[in-house]
Amino acid sequence: MPSASSNGWTADDMPNQTGNVVVVTGANSGIGYDTTKAFAQKGAHVAVACRSPERANRARQKIESAVSDASLSVHELDLRNQVAVRQFASEFKSEFDRLDVLVNNAGVMVPPYSTTDDGFELQFGVNHLGHFALTGLLLEELIETDGETRIVTQSSVAHDYGDIDFDDLHREQSYNRTEAYGQSKLANLLFTYELDRRLRAVGSNTIAVASHPGWSATGLQDGDTELGVSSVRRTVARIANTVFAQSPADGALPTLYASTATDVDGGHYFGPSGIMEIRGSPTRVVSNETSYDHKTAQQLWEISGKLTGITFEIGEATATQSLP
Ligand SMILES: NC(=O)c1ccc[n+]([C@@H]2O[C@H](COP(=O)([O-])OP(=O)(O)OC[C@H]3O[C@@H](n4cnc5c(N)ncnc54)[C@H](OP(=O)(O)O)[C@@H]3O)[C@@H](O)[C@H]2O)c1
Repeated sequence: MPSASSNGWTADDMPNQTGNVVVVTGANSGIGYDTTKAFAQKGAHVAVACRSPERANRARQKIESAVSDASLSVHELDLRNQVAVRQFASEFKSEFDRLDVLVNNAGVMVPPYSTTDDGFELQFGVNHLGHFALTGLLLEELIETDGETRIVTQSSVAHDYGDIDFDDLHREQSYNRTEAYGQSKLANLLFTYELDRRLRAVGSNTIAVASHPGWSATGLQDGDTELGVSSVRRTVARIANTVFAQSPADGALPTLYASTATDVDGGHYFGPSGIMEIRGSPTRVVSNETSYDHKTAQQLWEISGKLTGITFEIGEATATQSLP
């Protein structure tokens, strides 16, 4: 299954992106930052979609000082609030008349139990439902843009640590933070594959693709101090990152490959090619059996639509909006 053609692929191999508009969620740090920088280096306009305008502007300045002709715009997007997702989408659509690549990258990992503003378990709410809604709201823009357009969603090898617990999606009965992270990352894959099947069924010019960065040294393992992650966990994570992890720039390569390489088809999944997919150059990888299960994907699709109030009308190229 892995594609030999991707061996040794780097961001320099990305096709020219001049004229393209790209949205990257969580663009201010880690993999999102390096994804944004690489797109800017290749001439795309990148909408830097972040929950903190201050952190987003700092990232923008840093990229602009490294890439003199970078074209970036900063937009506030907090994926833990469905109203904020709608506000971002509406602002984006009023400013841009095309969208070539939507990179659903932002994420939180293994925090203590908490919920989004809409009452969803935080990881399921931010990592999956926030991006589900965002994609539905931007779909018309993607479909109406000329040429092939892509939706690239970030998953993880951790998709294998969790199931979709339809009886307790928000983990109110029992919360295991690793399983809940696994559920959210499995949901990213089920969503991608189901979305691509639906796009293909109508012969759409938009494809849905997934990626994962292996193990990359980012702020993710540190956790968010606002979320009450312990200092012991942050220290252990920093040491482990130093020994095992690859750089965020290398971790961004599967996403960049999924977003731009010419031999990518809808429903493909990309990750690092090394042992246990922890590090290495990007290649096509395979996710677990559950992620390809149509029935689970359809059930998740329906419940995600009900929870967010977003209905994807793919055949008619529109997404109906209503508040949850
Ligand atoms: N690093 C790895 O080894 C690894 C492995 C597998 C998968 N991943 C996935 O890679 C993606 C990027 O993570 P990373 O490693 O680059 O970590 P990171 O440096 O912590 O970046 C996470 C990004 O998500 C943003 N974010 C968090 N909550 C948000 C919200 N409510 N609304 C909007 N943005 C939000 C963060 O914003 P703030 O800066 O404001 O917090 C940050 O920009 C995640 O989906 C993660 O699950 C990472």
